[in-house]
Amino acid sequence: MADYEVEISIRELTKSFGAQTVLEDITFDVPKGKITVVLGPSGTGKSVFLKHLVGLLKPDRGEIWIGDKNVPALNEKELYEVRRKFGVLFQDGALFGSMNIYDNVAFPLREHTKKKESEINDICSEKLEMVGLVGAEKKLPGEISGGMKKRAGLARALVLDPEIVLFDEPDSGLDPVRTAFLNELIKDLNKQLEATFMVVTHDIPTAKNVSDYIGMLYRRNLVKFGPVSEMFESDIPVVRQFLSGSTEGPIGMSEEKDQTKTVKSSSGMTAAEVEEMEREAGAPVERERPGAEEASAEQGG
Ligand SMILES: Nc1ncnc2c1ncn2[C@@H]1O[C@H](COP(=O)(O)OP(=O)(O)OP(=O)(O)O)[C@@H](O)[C@H]1O
Ligand SMILES: [Mg+2]
Repeated sequence: MADYEVEISIRELTKSFGAQTVLEDITFDVPKGKITVVLGPSGTGKSVFLKHLVGLLKPDRGEIWIGDKNVPALNEKELYEVRRKFGVLFQDGALFGSMNIYDNVAFPLREHTKKKESEINDICSEKLEMVGLVGAEKKLPGEISGGMKKRAGLARALVLDPEIVLFDEPDSGLDPVRTAFLNELIKDLNKQLEATFMVVTHDIPTAKNVSDYIGMLYRRNLVKFGPVSEMFESDIPVVRQFLSGSTEGPIGMSEEKDQTKTVKSSSGMTAAEVEEMEREAGAPVERERPGAEEASAEQGG
């Protein structure tokens, strides 16, 4: 039994695609209000795992309890209700390329609520401020940096006030400096919002930096789940190897050096201030590429 308050209870979750078993007997309890990182090498089934939580994939076996609802057993209407509890930041930010940042962020509110534009404006302004994007509302996704796209995706994931926020590799495609700033923002928002955060990543510095708890996936199994300190002190060979191996390599070293420079929280700053702070901390300058974004993308919420 867990010695913490539980948000999601996962029991013997098992999923195969054809002959390939991707997840097998995954069992753990996601702590409420904390940041849980699911760590695993590329292709271990992290995205597949997240899709099960919101009912986008059905397991072959197993249960996912959120309150008194078992996600795989729900009908369409019940599933819709449960999904309303979630905000999702997809792996690529998944913004609509033809919509400006404001409209992207407002999209779930216009789609799922009957709120007036004035209310929508209040909510969007608040979330854009939280993620440091004030001043970038009118820009298209193709005109802003990768880090800003992630922030915009995050603002959109937050507009319906989710109880649970899922992050699929928030660090993918970002340089170490922007990753460090985004990680600070994630920690900050977790404190502010009292929501349960789940972050999947294969990046050890991110796992070390943002997590309260870590679950490690390896070869379709959950090798170990526990508080971050316990994980980094683990004697389990694969946990040791994975967690220490990457931080001791040359790439991990220089990333950590970058990150300790001037990283502080960027929450509540304007887009221009965030960009300046990132540049000062050593993030590469990205040129504006108008209209470079693909026209549409996967949508969540
Ligand atoms: N819909 C699907 N049909 C068949 N196979 C799939 C499907 N979705 C995922 N897979 C397979 O499941 C495995 C796990 O994929 P998944 O995308 O969850 O990995 P991941 O851990 O998120 O990797 P990455 O770190 O690269 O994002 C892969 O081998 C993938 O090819
Ligand atoms: Mg993935």
